Amino acid sequence: MTRIYSEEVELYDLAFDWAVSAEADWLVERLGPACRKVLEPGCGTGRMLEALARRGLEVTGIDISEPMVAFARARLAGNGVAADVRVADMTDFDLEGRFDGAICAISTAGLLSADELGRHLEAMARHLLPGARYLVQQGLAGDQAELWRSEWEAERGEIRLHVVFEALERDLDRARELSRSRVEVLTGPRAGAVVEDLHTTTYWTPATWRAAIDASPFAQVACYDGGLPERPPVELEQAGGYLWHELAAP
Ligand SMILES: C[S@@+](CC[C@H](N)C(=O)[O-])C[C@H]1O[C@@H](n2cnc3c(N)ncnc32)[C@H](O)[C@@H]1O
Repeated sequence: MTRIYSEEVELYDLAFDWAVSAEADWLVERLGPACRKVLEPGCGTGRMLEALARRGLEVTGIDISEPMVAFARARLAGNGVAADVRVADMTDFDLEGRFDGAICAISTAGLLSADELGRHLEAMARHLLPGARYLVQQGLAGDQAELWRSEWEAERGEIRLHVVFEALERDLDRARELSRSRVEVLTGPRAGAVVEDLHTTTYWTPATWRAAIDASPFAQVACYDGGLPERPPVELEQAGGYLWHELAAP
């Protein structure tokens, strides 16, 4: 497991401390008024769990990383937010009861291979009520998409970080992409520390994603461009770096 998802979860939480409030409002709207119980696989440090719980939903999160789960539990309890957060593998898990909806944020699904995504969707279908919505944020690459690079700074109290995530190479035959994250601590007690990780992810295109969903128990009912403030619906065949896929459970 990469360090940023295991030993360095505090740095992860700070690096991804984006304002999630507008996105959480939109997610609650998409999940619908009947949705009370929500599951987030790959919940990380719980930033989305907290935002959804604050909007009145009963939230459950699972993550394969024990440090992530410990951080999420402490953060939610410390902020007086009720949530059930457990260590579990999103490709094979068994929770009691069924959920009215689910979300999966910031290309977490891309961390899974195509086979693992298939097993994940089978597991999700077993945990959702018929017709429940599963909102999955996953970028899809267009033809000849260039290698991407994101760079930003994050700040909390006296700690300031410089963060770079960038794709290094692609194996189109195996539909895999190698990327690197680099988090440098600029100020604060750990100034000068650098945490670098290599990530291997699945390189999804509109066609391969469509085939994966068609082979799963879910039906894709819509797709939205999450990179725009209004998050407008887009064609299912469209590529994009920040797409939200709306899947309906069987
Ligand atoms: C990009 S982070 C996203 C975290 C969180 N959803 C957020 O929005 O900040 C991906 C998360 O997926 C978790 N993860 C990776 N593989 C997993 C698996 N097979 N089962 C459960 N969680 C997994 C990692 O530990 C990490 O916390």
